[in-house]
Amino acid sequence: MFENMPVITKQEIEDGLHFAMEQINRNLPAFTDQFEKAYSDNHFYEPVENTDWTAGFWTGQIWLAYEFAKAGGWPGADALRQAGEIQVESFLDRIEKKIEVEHHDMGFLYSPSCVAAYKLTGSRQGKDAAILAARQLITRYQPKGKFIQAWGGMDEPENYRLIIDCLLNLPLLYWASEETGEESFRDIAIQHTHTAMQNVIREDFSTWHTFYFDSITGEPKKGATCQGYRDGSAWARGQAWGIYGSALAYKYTQKEEYIEIFKGVTDYFLCHLPKDMVPYWDLEFTDGDEQPRDSSSASIAACGMLQMCEYLGEEEAAVYNRYAGQMMKSLYENYAVKNPADSNGLVLHSTYSNHSPYNTCNHYGVDECNSWGDYFYMEALTRLRGDWNPYW
Ligand code: GLY
Repeated sequence: MFENMPVITKQEIEDGLHFAMEQINRNLPAFTDQFEKAYSDNHFYEPVENTDWTAGFWTGQIWLAYEFAKAGGWPGADALRQAGEIQVESFLDRIEKKIEVEHHDMGFLYSPSCVAAYKLTGSRQGKDAAILAARQLITRYQPKGKFIQAWGGMDEPENYRLIIDCLLNLPLLYWASEETGEESFRDIAIQHTHTAMQNVIREDFSTWHTFYFDSITGEPKKGATCQGYRDGSAWARGQAWGIYGSALAYKYTQKEEYIEIFKGVTDYFLCHLPKDMVPYWDLEFTDGDEQPRDSSSASIAACGMLQMCEYLGEEEAAVYNRYAGQMMKSLYENYAVKNPADSNGLVLHSTYSNHSPYNTCNHYGVDECNSWGDYFYMEALTRLRGDWNPYW
């Protein structure tokens, strides 16, 4: 597949990261005491308070930029570190006061912000905040069914479900287990992974976005979509969370079955890409369909493939490395922002929430930048540059 697509070059990786450094440094004054909104409006992010599930992605970009600067690639590492530390204070305040934390997205929030700060600088506040966030996350564990509930009240049968995205929330629990010595974090992560993999992966390795359980018996009930086009389709970002999520599941459990799942969900994703390897928002659509893309899914998938390359034999790793490099080339050439007059983000043509006749989504952040699209684009470039210790 895609044998003739070029791979991103070393120079393009450097150029992509240099542009990201320029954009992030330009954004710092407006986005140190505040955060990037989840998605841009007409390609420009507004500053917002730290209340959404996405705030950590902007802080994560600051930490990636700090690492790049510190490694000698850019001046101003200290200013980036100071900005990162101000943001970490905000995350500590948020979890101490429990501001908008009654959902499962603690990993998306606290891994690229506070775990990153702790790993890079030994930040005490980062560590404390991330451990509190992990404690918050395990309050959402439903022993009946053995999963972490995504949203809504824990006693509401209509919310008795997990979503595939949650696989990215689990590294926070493995990290908390290591730091505190408390096995319960790790046990819950392992249980949730098992339940999720048993239920969200379909026979053909396409994925359900969400999966319901019976709140009385805990028995699996049915799959459904929220952000995908229709129940039986494969939401592009859900599939990408499945790629990165199965690579991380293998990282933390070393269960061979997760390598097989990784290969299945990745191959399904690759087989349903348009010619330029950047998916439409749902894998149901392809070349010729007048539908928006979700460029963020390509970056997430690239990060997942690069993570899994660490555990595969040389030959297999080379193949996934090539796919990741090809996707990043396509993003760099045709989706990345090149001129700050066009956008204060990094990557265009991402889709957050697209309404269809068959889903329950409102329409926002469609064909825009979004903060995780920017974060994972920068993470993938950083990974390709080599020698990076993940925040996840
Ligand atoms: N985790 C929510 C999303 O991917 O839109």
